[in-house]
Amino acid sequence: MGDEPVIATNDDASECKRGAVQLGYWSDDYISYFVKHTEKRAPEINRGYYARVKGIENFVQKFINKAGSAAQILNFGSGFDTLYWRLKDEGVQIANYVEIDFPTVTARKCYMIRRNKPLLERIHDQDGEVKLSPTDLHAGNYHCIGADIRNISQLEVKLQQAEVRFNVPTLFIAECVLVYIENECVNRLLSWISSRFRSGLFVNYEMCNMNDTFSDVMLGNLRARGCNLAGITHCKSLEMQKTRFLNNGWSGSRSWDMVEVYYAINSTERHRIEKIEFLDEQELLIQLFQHYCICIGWLGTEFSELNCTED
Ligand SMILES: C[S@@+](CC[C@H](N)C(=O)[O-])C[C@H]1O[C@@H](n2cnc3c(N)ncnc32)[C@H](O)[C@@H]1O
Repeated sequence: MGDEPVIATNDDASECKRGAVQLGYWSDDYISYFVKHTEKRAPEINRGYYARVKGIENFVQKFINKAGSAAQILNFGSGFDTLYWRLKDEGVQIANYVEIDFPTVTARKCYMIRRNKPLLERIHDQDGEVKLSPTDLHAGNYHCIGADIRNISQLEVKLQQAEVRFNVPTLFIAECVLVYIENECVNRLLSWISSRFRSGLFVNYEMCNMNDTFSDVMLGNLRARGCNLAGITHCKSLEMQKTRFLNNGWSGSRSWDMVEVYYAINSTERHRIEKIEFLDEQELLIQLFQHYCICIGWLGTEFSELNCTED
């Protein structure tokens, strides 16, 4: 099986995000530049995306609060994620932001950035230089690079072109990405990071508790779409998600299922989104949340106190 079905998961995620944004779950002025199509999804799916986006944003915020403007962000399997532009609008200063995905995905992203002034304007200053190839874009502190993260030597070359530094605090994001990658490749990536970077935080969002009937149905649905979940064996439990970091040279790790992440969101905000779409009963939502998690790993001691509660 080739990488196409995995690449297609980006379209699905982006469409779901755009749909939820349109309904008012969260605001994102940029997602509609990348994805034109939306389909109505079940309220549980919209709430699931809401918890995913808010959960990750919470750690991004905490990381930036600690790391300050020297911070560097590497977003693995970034797809059409819009975090860079959202942070820019919030006035957040960071040293470097790098998005990495298969060249087929980054080529489409680079094209859309070039075609849409509001996206382009925010990635470079008036007199700043924009370096472009069909799959890569470098402008100011923003870099979008086409690379397969299973291939460390290729990744290293590309990160060098993106001016990545190994001695500044670095946030690594993998939002629903590692589950598509063979375990030995994920281990190699995590080991490589822990051997090269001095201080950092990894935020990983994906499945967990994949060991019951509910998860069999979930996996059956995903596989029916032709998508190979090469890394699923590491999603059997929260414990396995955590030990993967420890076994690959990280200083520490912690994980929460999405039930915990969701109920840690500020209650006023949670009540606001719960009024957007009515849920007959909570059971399906809770079951979904029990099968996804956020797992963090840290290098050094700077990020060892972080947890999923909002400040
Ligand atoms: C489910 S999508 C998630 C996209 C984005 N992180 C989000 O949450 O909106 C998974 C992404 O991971 C990317 N991906 C999977 N395996 C990859 C690999 N080996 N190298 C680079 N990107 C990869 C896919 O191309 C796709 O864009």
